[in-house]
Amino acid sequence: MVMKLRVAIIGCGKAAERHLKIYQALQDRVEVVAVSDINTERANLFAQTLSAKPYKDFNEMLKKEPVDVVDLALPSGMHGKIGKIVIKKFKKHLLVEKPLALTIREAHELLNLSRRFNLKLVTIFQNRANLPIIKLKEILNKGLLGRIILVSTKFYWSRTQAYYDSAAWRGTWAQDGGALAQQGCHFADMMVYLGGEIESAFAKMGTFLANMEAEDLLVGTIKFKNGALGTIEATTCARPKDIKAEVVILGEKGSAILGGFAMNRLDYLAIEDINDVENLVGGYRENPPHHLGYAHYSYLSHAMDFFREGKKQAFIVEGEEALPSLELIIGLYESAERRREVHFPFRPLRCKLGRGGSQ
Ligand SMILES: NC(=O)c1ccc[n+]([C@@H]2O[C@H](COP(=O)([O-])OP(=O)(O)OC[C@H]3O[C@@H](n4cnc5c(N)ncnc54)[C@H](O)[C@@H]3O)[C@@H](O)[C@H]2O)c1
Repeated sequence: MVMKLRVAIIGCGKAAERHLKIYQALQDRVEVVAVSDINTERANLFAQTLSAKPYKDFNEMLKKEPVDVVDLALPSGMHGKIGKIVIKKFKKHLLVEKPLALTIREAHELLNLSRRFNLKLVTIFQNRANLPIIKLKEILNKGLLGRIILVSTKFYWSRTQAYYDSAAWRGTWAQDGGALAQQGCHFADMMVYLGGEIESAFAKMGTFLANMEAEDLLVGTIKFKNGALGTIEATTCARPKDIKAEVVILGEKGSAILGGFAMNRLDYLAIEDINDVENLVGGYRENPPHHLGYAHYSYLSHAMDFFREGKKQAFIVEGEEALPSLELIIGLYESAERRREVHFPFRPLRCKLGRGGSQ
C-alpha cells in the first residue's frame, strides 16, 4: 500500500476552507496531520473537521509533527518569510497559495532554497487547470492561431469595503496589494502563460471606491518579446456585483475568447481552414460542475500527485514558473508609480508591493 501524503496547513482562513474540503475528498491519498493558525478558534475548527492536531505556533507544529508537505494559506505578504522557514529550517515541500511572494527578491530566495534542498515548490494558480485554458494552451502550442498579435485580459469584479475591512492585511501594500496583485494575479499569470515573455509594461492606477492603501483599478498596456501587444484591466470596483472576466487572443490565423466568471468557458474560437472547431474543442469548452470548484479540485489533486509521485501535469506551476507573473505585476505597479513605461528586466525602485508594514 502506498503511504498517504502527510500535509500540514499554516493559515486556516478563507482560502484554506476550500483546501480543507478538497483534502477531505482526497483522504484516500492525503492525510492532514496538523494545522496551525494564530487564531486558535480557527485552528481548532480545522483540526476538528480534519481529525488533525491544532497548533498556534507553526514552528512548534513542524518540530513535532511528521509532515511531507506544508500548505501555506497565509496573508500574501507572509508567504516569503514563513515559506523560507518551512524550507530552510524544516526541509518540507511547499504548496503555496498565489502569489508565491510579494517581492522578486523573496520569490528568488524561496526558489533558491527549494533548489538547494531539492524540495518541490508549487504555487496555486488553479485557473491553469480550467479545461478551456488547457485546450487553448494546446492550440497555441501547436501554432494553430498563427503569430499572436494581441492578448487582452480584463476582470470586472466587486469587492466592497466590508471585504477590505474583513482582515487588517487586505488592501495594504505590505501584505496584499490591490486588484492587480490580489485578484488580478490569475490574469497576470494568463498573460505570460498564453502570451509569453514581457518586453515592457505601462500602467495607470487609482483607488476609486474602496478605502484602502492599494489600487482598486489598474489599466495596463504590455508589449511582449514576440512583438504582440497586450492589455490588462483589473478592478474590484464593479457595482453592485461581479460582472465577468475575459481573455481575448487575436492571431494572424485565428482568435479565441475565454469568458465566464473566471476564464472557465471558451466563448469564441475561430481558426482559418478549420471548419469543425467543435471537434477540436471536444469536451473542453467549459469546466464541468464540481461541488468543490472544478479547477481548484483538479489543481490540488494533481499537485498532491506531483508531491507524492513526481507526476507533473503541465498546468502545475512549479518553482520559477510562478516568477514571470509576479514580475509583470511588479512591473505594472512600478510603471504606475514612475509614470512611465518599464522595460524588462528592471529593478523595482518605487513599487510599494511587499514593502514596509509588518512583514
Ligand atoms: N487561489 C485563489 O484563487 C485564492 C483565493 C483566495 C485567496 N487566495 C490566497 O490565499 C491566501 C490567504 O487568503 P485568505 O483569504 O484565506 O486570508 P484570510 O485572512 O482569510 O486567512 C489567513 C489566515 O492566516 C492566519 N495567520 C496569520 N498569521 C499567521 C501565522 N503567523 N501563523 C499561522 N496562521 C496565521 C490568519 O489568522 C488567518 O486565519 C492569500 O495569499 C490569498 O492571495 C488565493
